[in-house]
Amino acid sequence: MNDQALTTMDFHALAASRCSTRSFTQDPIPQDSLNRILETARLAPSAKNLQPWRFIVIRTPEVLRTVHACYSRDWLQTAPAILVVTGRRCDAWVRASDGYNSLETDLSIAMDHIILAAENEGISTCWIAAFDLPCLRRALSLTGEDEVFAFTPLGYPAEGYTPVPKKRKPLEEIATYL
Ligand SMILES: Cc1cc2nc3c(=O)[nH]c(=O)nc-3n(C[C@H](O)[C@H](O)[C@H](O)COP(=O)(O)O)c2cc1C
Repeated sequence: MNDQALTTMDFHALAASRCSTRSFTQDPIPQDSLNRILETARLAPSAKNLQPWRFIVIRTPEVLRTVHACYSRDWLQTAPAILVVTGRRCDAWVRASDGYNSLETDLSIAMDHIILAAENEGISTCWIAAFDLPCLRRALSLTGEDEVFAFTPLGYPAEGYTPVPKKRKPLEEIATYL
């Protein structure tokens, strides 16, 4: 097997092992791991390379508590850290022909990089969008222009935690070859 084949297989295994995790140990995230996760986010592509993102890492109990209050599920409280991706529409690319603004796309790509990079560090995540936005804005002191579409807990899965089994549409249903 050549190096390229090995790399491809490793990436597939990483994508297959990632799952939404909803119960964590209290073990803190090592700074080295966090640095690599953030660096992977920094390398994400963005429209016109405008990089309209900001990454907020929440680790202090006081701020964690204010974010917990913005999400209805208690399991979030088990995570030792929460990573929020924010950005401003005015910093993102706008398509001239119809005014499409790439902010949500750019921030989502960065979040996906974060989630896969975390998995590569053995750190589990869960993309969270069902939060109370006004509450989160207050918790993070976001200004009027800052937008947030998702955050994720970061942590090691609790012992014995069994993720929801993967349920996906078959490829034949979703892929077309023309
Ligand atoms: C845009 C988006 C929003 C999501 N919001 C939530 C959420 O608010 N709470 C939650 O528990 N999971 C949330 N999820 C996780 C999905 O439920 C999960 O990815 C899906 O069920 C597939 O499971 P898997 O991630 O374990 O493969 C979200 C995922 C995405 C992509």
